[in-house]
Amino acid sequence: MKPKILVTREVFDETLAYLSQHCEVEANQEDRAFDAETLAAKLAGKDGVVCCLTDRVDAKLLERCARLKVVANIAVGYNNIDIAACTARGVMATNTPGVLDDSTADLAWALMLATARRLTELERRVRGGEWTGWKLKQWLGVDVHHATLGVFGLGRIGQAIARRAAGFEMKVLYHNRSRVRSDIEQRLDATYVTKDELLRQSDFVVLQVPYTPETHHMIGAAELKQMKRTAILINSTRGGVVDDAALIAALQEGTIRAAGLDVYENEPRLSPGFLGLDNVVLAPHVGSSTEATRRAMAMTAARNLVAVLSGSKPPNLLNPAACRT
Ligand code: DGY
Repeated sequence: MKPKILVTREVFDETLAYLSQHCEVEANQEDRAFDAETLAAKLAGKDGVVCCLTDRVDAKLLERCARLKVVANIAVGYNNIDIAACTARGVMATNTPGVLDDSTADLAWALMLATARRLTELERRVRGGEWTGWKLKQWLGVDVHHATLGVFGLGRIGQAIARRAAGFEMKVLYHNRSRVRSDIEQRLDATYVTKDELLRQSDFVVLQVPYTPETHHMIGAAELKQMKRTAILINSTRGGVVDDAALIAALQEGTIRAAGLDVYENEPRLSPGFLGLDNVVLAPHVGSSTEATRRAMAMTAARNLVAVLSGSKPPNLLNPAACRT
């Protein structure tokens, strides 16, 4: 008998085909997000789940899923999963690191360039018929090249963002829980600084830390005040790392120049203040959303799940303590 699994959201055909070779699959190709009760009802009696950041996997849910052995998240971030609760119940949790580093770094850069050169604001003006001709002082932006880039979180994605800075001849600063190896610092020409130094010195502050209780609102009113008035903030990691209300106030008051955002507190609901601002570029959590990368992420999650249900250690295990193989 094949193990029974649930795939909570729509996935690619090849992902379903692969999973179906190994498992009895209940899919959701209509892509209706399940509420907590529906998810619990569907997961009861399942051996595994392929899920996304829109699914909350917590102790309450796990209590109702006695057979569950694996939670395979289609994302590198896993703040939607209570890892301790999984470990306590011997449920292995996995994520999809590596395959999305470059696409996510590209999107952070797209936000940097778009905010610096006011692209979305200016496109709105062009479409609205405001462009009447070339002028010397028209809609001036700021340079990215030769500016100082400050990266919070120099993990894989942070490193991919920093790597791209060489082409723009930027000075690269970073802050991390711990300093990265010196060969990585050298390769990236990146200098470790304190949080305060990074905020005070950077022209572009890019956030690439995971969302945890420690990083909740790590950028709030006090940190925004420490930044240069000309600085630009980029958040393409997780909503909640930034205090959105404080950011809206800072953008309205000119405490910083602009922000480029892919993620929000309470997404997909946006704090309404953002919508009235020209100095913010708003993207809908698409950091990893290229066709090739999303296909690779879905297959990575599927392979992690199949590994567990075949009795092996999955490649991207988040809680080794739950692994008894
Ligand atoms: C991730 O992998 O954490 C992304 O945010 C999902 O797109």
